[in-house]
Amino acid sequence: MAVRKIIRMGHPALRRPALDVARDDLGSEALHRLVADMIDTLHDYGGIGLAAPQINEGIRLAIVEVPGGPTRHGELAEQPLAVCVNPRIEVLDPVTEGHWEGCLSVPGLRGYVERPRGIRVSYVNLRGEEQRITAHGFLATVFQHEFDHLDGKLYIDHIDDPHRLVFEEEYARYVLPIEEPTPK
Ligand code: NI
Repeated sequence: MAVRKIIRMGHPALRRPALDVARDDLGSEALHRLVADMIDTLHDYGGIGLAAPQINEGIRLAIVEVPGGPTRHGELAEQPLAVCVNPRIEVLDPVTEGHWEGCLSVPGLRGYVERPRGIRVSYVNLRGEEQRITAHGFLATVFQHEFDHLDGKLYIDHIDDPHRLVFEEEYARYVLPIEEPTPK
């Protein structure tokens, strides 16, 4: 296991659609090693989600792990580590909800993005088992953000108002104190 380097905005690999993982590869040592590296990398960088293209591996694989508890997004429901292979999203509630997003591939910035607030996520895990997760609010945003990486998209592509793309320090100083509480 190893911490891998996360590539940053501007690297062309972040803009390439990733390829499906073949069913036969699910049990392979190489894929398990890659997932172990992604978990190490996620923990080392202190993130809540990471997609394989962010470490320059162009396959449809992403991990999400959200610790529960009180945060600036309200009381967060815990999402235990989900290793999502070939994920798909179905929108359950198209009403959008906005969150300030960040990305390990766009370090130092925060941007306000609106996305559908209720989704169902389907994927296979490393054992080849079909999994389903229903996600609302901030967790729905996290999954949509990570799976966007598999299509070569970044959260900045969804920012409607460029005034709401700011540096983290300025976010903490000017935005956070006046931010409306996130609607449920
Ligand atoms: Ni990201």
